[in-house]
Amino acid sequence: MAKPKTLFVCNACGAQSPKWVGQCADCGAWNTLEETQATTAVTHRSGYAGEASALRRLTELESAEELRTSTGLREVDRVLGGGIVRGGVTLIGGDPGIGKSTLLLQLVARVHDALPTLYVAGEESLQQIHLRAQRLGVADVPITALAETCVERIMAQAEQARPGLLVIDSIQTIFTETLQSAAGSVSQLRESTAQLVRYAKRTGTAVLLIGHVTKEGAIAGPRVLEHMVDTVLYFESDVGGRYRVVRAVKNRFGAANELGVFAMTDGGLKEVSHPSAIFLSRHEAPMTGSVITCIREGTRPMLLEVQALVDESPLQNPRRVTVGMDQNRLAMLLAILHRHGGVAMFNQDVFVNVVGGMRIGETASDLSVLLAVLSSFRNQPLGADTLVFGELGLAGEVRPVPNGEERLNEAAKHGFRRAIVPYANQPRHRTIEGLEVIGLRRMSEALDLL
Ligand code: TYD
Ligand code: MG
Repeated sequence: MAKPKTLFVCNACGAQSPKWVGQCADCGAWNTLEETQATTAVTHRSGYAGEASALRRLTELESAEELRTSTGLREVDRVLGGGIVRGGVTLIGGDPGIGKSTLLLQLVARVHDALPTLYVAGEESLQQIHLRAQRLGVADVPITALAETCVERIMAQAEQARPGLLVIDSIQTIFTETLQSAAGSVSQLRESTAQLVRYAKRTGTAVLLIGHVTKEGAIAGPRVLEHMVDTVLYFESDVGGRYRVVRAVKNRFGAANELGVFAMTDGGLKEVSHPSAIFLSRHEAPMTGSVITCIREGTRPMLLEVQALVDESPLQNPRRVTVGMDQNRLAMLLAILHRHGGVAMFNQDVFVNVVGGMRIGETASDLSVLLAVLSSFRNQPLGADTLVFGELGLAGEVRPVPNGEERLNEAAKHGFRRAIVPYANQPRHRTIEGLEVIGLRRMSEALDLL
């Protein structure tokens, strides 16, 4: 008999290694390798035993439009790219307590007529879910619920009930009988998700998976899950904040990076339809280290406040701390500032925070981060009615960003008086009423503005 082969899988990135090592060779994370049996390949094949697929012409297939069901929640439809897709698998990630179960219950109650739902509760009792449904005012919707964590039994029940939508809350609690390891381990997550994905594709059932997020912000366990599913949504928010932002990080059926914005109320999540300025708190007096920028997420612009604090450091290696943006990007901006602006911060701690718990990944925020840092360093405010955006290049040039005019219009709409933008983003043929636009070619010109 062949010896069962063991394999080590990184629970951060899913990379495999034949032996245990302290650091994952793929993603560089420490202590993330877990032992698992290398049986997945075989179970995959046995699970695949079905009828062989026939050759089809794409033109003969039903149009994708008809396979979508609108959820009736405009912000959810927006991130999903128009609604729930038949046979589509969506992973919804977020911190505990952020509102994943709440949002899904609200959604399920709305689509139940069009898509009869099976709600699988792996975490909570059915009583708890009933209580939440009462609180949300949807207790009279006849949703079928099941308290079960074994994926084989879930699918057996689903085969009978034939729901149009299968909700799994949460994927970390689900296990498959074919593997020995504990629920929530990488191999369990992968295998259970693989089985659910195959079920979804075979039966045309839409599947929504809830996933927990690690403190590093990735969906716990493997990023492998993100490859397996069609759509990945993340919840973002401030700790204790009122607003919740749902972001599509990956979407096979729509635009990625689209945002949906909700407010958490005592009656559940409410949509925010004009969210562009919800994270702004207008300060009475100008504040140092605070700069307003306009990012464009998906298809709409959003105004955000970037705050920086620069303080003399007692440490050998001064700190570079970012909340809501990439730390390496900050290091790069500080290098540009030194090299092309002659401003050194070698003995300073630099903290940057994006207010409201939002994450910005857009390079268009470069200039605003730089000006916030500079403003704090020099203890000079930029002025509360000033908007800043623009990308910085390593040569110290200010590079244009897409949709500049739309961002400027948004700023004017919210009463900003001045905008500091890349030269190429200045409106060429018209002026925007009430807004003085200052175009920059080089980063060094920004130094003179403060
Ligand atoms: P929940 O959906 O259980 O979070 P998750 O499934 O992501 O872990 O949300 C729980 C939080 O939401 C909890 O802190 C209470 C709050 N909440 C409200 O404020 N109003 C409501 O109507 C509901 C149902 C929850
Ligand atoms: Mg929950």
